Amino acid sequence: METVKKKAALITGGARRVGAEIALGLALDGYDIALHYNSSEEDAIGTQNEIKSLGRECSIFRGDLRDLRFVNELVMVAFSTFPQLNVLINSASVFKRAEIKDTSRHDFDELMEVNFRAPFFLIKEFASLCQGGNVVNILDTKTARHQNAYTAYSISRIALLELTGFAAVEFAPKIRFNGICPGFILPGAGEDEAYAKRLESKIPLGRKGKAGNIVETVNFLLKNDFVTGQIIYVDGGENIK
Ligand SMILES: NC(=O)c1ccc[n+]([C@@H]2O[C@H](COP(=O)([O-])OP(=O)(O)OC[C@H]3O[C@@H](n4cnc5c(N)ncnc54)[C@H](OP(=O)(O)O)[C@@H]3O)[C@@H](O)[C@H]2O)c1
Repeated sequence: METVKKKAALITGGARRVGAEIALGLALDGYDIALHYNSSEEDAIGTQNEIKSLGRECSIFRGDLRDLRFVNELVMVAFSTFPQLNVLINSASVFKRAEIKDTSRHDFDELMEVNFRAPFFLIKEFASLCQGGNVVNILDTKTARHQNAYTAYSISRIALLELTGFAAVEFAPKIRFNGICPGFILPGAGEDEAYAKRLESKIPLGRKGKAGNIVETVNFLLKNDFVTGQIIYVDGGENIK
């Protein structure tokens, strides 16, 4: 009888929204899941139950990615729970709208700590423990332009985008690193129908995407073993307009 190789993925910010869809997509593809969350405990337990109902194992890990001690421990704990861990998805992020003149020191630090410093050290730890695997960084189509309303946020994502290439070179051929830049997929808190319509009018395909579009791209990147250091914009063409 053919034995199926066990595989497992660690997903940050996996309790809800896009992160949860990625976790469920990977579970459907046979991955056991180390699911990180911070404040969304109820959602994390709900997603964990859904993953288990698919016949996969799922452990949840709570922690604040601003805390570097927690960041350094997360990968180690995930590996001790799932020794077959071979995928890291950096999906957690904070989103703040502000031009330079309105950016507080607090918001600047939070953006850099959650969106760049945490993935940097998760990658460092993952690369030291993983014998062969993949990292996918979930970024943002805002990395393609100088959108002044989101300066510090965009720079925190551009830093991670650039890290994707550096890491792809440093850790090849053991680990492949790729990034996905979603466009408008799910509206954030406080973004109403009028806001959505305005955004959609700026997208060449004229509509928002679905979380499934991101899940499909994650699957593609994990399966295609000749792709590394690449960034795929899944944004209805927003970055080219
Ligand atoms: N949704 C979209 O349309 C869209 C568009 C462009 C890019 N993206 C990118 O796609 C990814 C997923 O999108 P999303 O909309 O699902 O993201 P989201 O809801 O904005 O955030 C994902 C998760 O990040 C976690 N997080 C935030 N601050 C944290 C902290 N200090 N410590 C630990 N975790 C923290 C939160 O976990 P808890 O809830 O557990 O606190 C949250 O659920 C993100 O990287 C986002 O930037 C999404």
